[in-house]
Amino acid sequence: MVISMNKIFIRLFQVFSNQLVKLIKWEDPLVLSGEKTLNKLPKMLKEQKIVNVFVIVDPNIYRLGLSDAFLDGLKEVGINYELYTEVKNNPTIESIEKTLTSYQKKVFDLTIVIGGGSAIDTAKLTLIVAENKGKKLKQLRGYFKVRKRIPPLIAVPTTAGSGSEVTIAAVVTNDETHEKYAITSPKILPRMVVLDPNLTINLPPSITAYTGMDALVHAIECYIGKANTKYTKKISLEAIKIIWNNLRIAVEDGKNTDARNKMLEASFKAGCAFTRGFVGYVHAISHQLSGFYNIPHGLANAVILPKVLEQYGKAINKDMYKIYKALGYQDNLSMDEARCFIINEIYKMNNSLNIPKKFEGVLEKDIETMVKRCMKEAHPMYPVPKILSKKSLINIYKEMI
Ligand SMILES: [Fe+2]
Repeated sequence: MVISMNKIFIRLFQVFSNQLVKLIKWEDPLVLSGEKTLNKLPKMLKEQKIVNVFVIVDPNIYRLGLSDAFLDGLKEVGINYELYTEVKNNPTIESIEKTLTSYQKKVFDLTIVIGGGSAIDTAKLTLIVAENKGKKLKQLRGYFKVRKRIPPLIAVPTTAGSGSEVTIAAVVTNDETHEKYAITSPKILPRMVVLDPNLTINLPPSITAYTGMDALVHAIECYIGKANTKYTKKISLEAIKIIWNNLRIAVEDGKNTDARNKMLEASFKAGCAFTRGFVGYVHAISHQLSGFYNIPHGLANAVILPKVLEQYGKAINKDMYKIYKALGYQDNLSMDEARCFIINEIYKMNNSLNIPKKFEGVLEKDIETMVKRCMKEAHPMYPVPKILSKKSLINIYKEMI
């Protein structure tokens, strides 16, 4: 009885919050895509009379020389830039203060960030603090608390997965408590996104696989969730199709720019979808594993995805059948069979991407705490297709260790 009352509360909360979120509309950033697009940017900025820019570059991307042609291009057209490369993996309140000190040295017309999710979040968080003077990041934690729109930001993702270039959230960690939290508001969206596959061709296969699976999880969790609009249904399904057909190619042949380009497009679409339609238990479960054991986000998500889909069972039959059909499978399977088929294909995909079925080093004694935190994250916010019991969640964790 207690559980069912709790479920009723969760669903009522979601009905109310989904309506509220649907009222808050925003436009996705402008997109510039294709091979070597980043190198065309300096000329375009010059034409827009941009004079001073703040450039944040992921340290690995900078070390590999992948931003050199762009920085040279800025010099050639006479645009002044301040370069910042001390991006921290998983930005903290302290690391953002450091970036802010650099940002506040001059007045900039715009900021350009070249990097993965951590770099893009660093840029978003720095600009939030710069623009919302007097407010501390912890005061802006949660939904829709950022009052002023951040100054113009161009995001150039160098991994195809996080979708941070198009999401309305930025994640920061408290240095003292190690607690991770998100600041969510349409006011932190970049104005423009550059999707250049040449920046991702040097990514190692494992990173390509983990980040690509993260994007697949974004798309699937959104598609089977209960907070969709026509738009999020359409683009999440498109993202699933693209990833299904291109992730393995991008992992096996990293220099295949067509597959790389398509993965960037899919990650962007999945980002557009889940920033409106949310994620589900896969993320709630994986965040705890990453917090406790530093397991890469995409890897954790990939391992967890089929387990959670199994737990949902018949509740996701309709959507899984639509995914099955959209992926072009022709066999005349029943809905149950189609769901099991797709789950099995995800196991096969993980296997072909060298993603294990279980995690090493995860301790049974931590499961209770992880489940508690997972439930706190998922309930009542995530519009999951089926509310899972504490026992089911414990079983999912146990199956993976
Ligand atoms: Fe994710």
